[in-house]
Amino acid sequence: MAKKIFSGVQPTGNLHLGNYIGAIKNFVDLQNEKNNQCIFCVVDLHAITVKQNPKELKNNIRETTAAFLASGIEPEKNIIFNQSLVPAHSEGSWILGCVARMGWLNRMTQFKEKAGKDKEKASIGLYIYPVLMAADILLYDASHVPVGEDQKQHLELSRDIAQKFNLDYECPNFFKIPEPLIQKNFARIMSLKDGTKKMSKSDPSDLSRINLKDNKDEIINKIKKAKTDNDSMPKDENNLNKRPEIENLFSIYSSLSNQNLKSTIDQFSGKNFSKFKNDLAEVVVEKITPISNEIKRLEKDPQFIDNILLNGSKKAEKMAKLKVEKLKEIIGF
Ligand code: AMP
Ligand code: TRP
Repeated sequence: MAKKIFSGVQPTGNLHLGNYIGAIKNFVDLQNEKNNQCIFCVVDLHAITVKQNPKELKNNIRETTAAFLASGIEPEKNIIFNQSLVPAHSEGSWILGCVARMGWLNRMTQFKEKAGKDKEKASIGLYIYPVLMAADILLYDASHVPVGEDQKQHLELSRDIAQKFNLDYECPNFFKIPEPLIQKNFARIMSLKDGTKKMSKSDPSDLSRINLKDNKDEIINKIKKAKTDNDSMPKDENNLNKRPEIENLFSIYSSLSNQNLKSTIDQFSGKNFSKFKNDLAEVVVEKITPISNEIKRLEKDPQFIDNILLNGSKKAEKMAKLKVEKLKEIIGF
């Protein structure tokens, strides 16, 4: 069945292998499924829920867009745009903010994590972040939303908001109830230095992650230095969850080779870790270096990237504006 896909990535810099395997690679697969209509959004309004340096933000918007393009997302087939160019997102977000309940937002774990101990000092934007995310999705009647496991709760909130609006205003089918698309395999890529922590752009150690802009030597070096353990090569999947670093490296290999974990285990059974790490580095270099080179090439032409965003936003605006107009009519404006 054809799907209408919407997803967003924050332009906060340092895109890494976790973002690629957990999100962008799936976007490409979904784009390549027949008849899907895909909308990929650089969610810059979400980014400013924590303070950003204006110059860096502009560069990061372009870098995220370049990463989409370099990974194989085609702007002619899909819509690629940045959120702040389409005012309907902000407008829709206000209206949905009047539908969402405090009690619902108070349960959001991402807010608790990001706000930290001193909640009083968190921005109001950070608190209502999931309402803006609901507007993103609902304004396009998206049927499916590919996200990482960490965004599942936000997606459930979007569904709750849609259902409450449809019920409160007696318009049963106005907002489509979106389905999450959460990868079963390799949904969380972990730090190369600590298999219990997510690979993250905010980890102070650059050795913990492979950035999409790393060159060949950096990738090889990081894999060489990646943490392993003193046990022998795994023979099957049993106990692999007790060896998080090994499981993670095997997951990366499997995902990038488009095979399941078992095939990778069988392939390296009886071999040693240095052989595995060599092969792993080869696969990562093979997949990531072309992306890295292409991002760097595209970034030399900011005008080209800005045009892609501008064209995408015109297409997005048409859809979102229409939905907001209908929304306003229902409300009584
Ligand atoms: P973020 O950079 O946190 O805004 O995430 C952008 C997208 O990448 C989201 O869909 C995340 O779920 C996904 N993502 C981020 N870090 C990882 C990771 N370590 N493993 C898998 N997916 C990730
Ligand atoms: N909150 C998502 C994240 O941090 C990004 C996002 C914003 C998003 N709006 C969205 C994802 C709409 C999917 C659909 O990863």
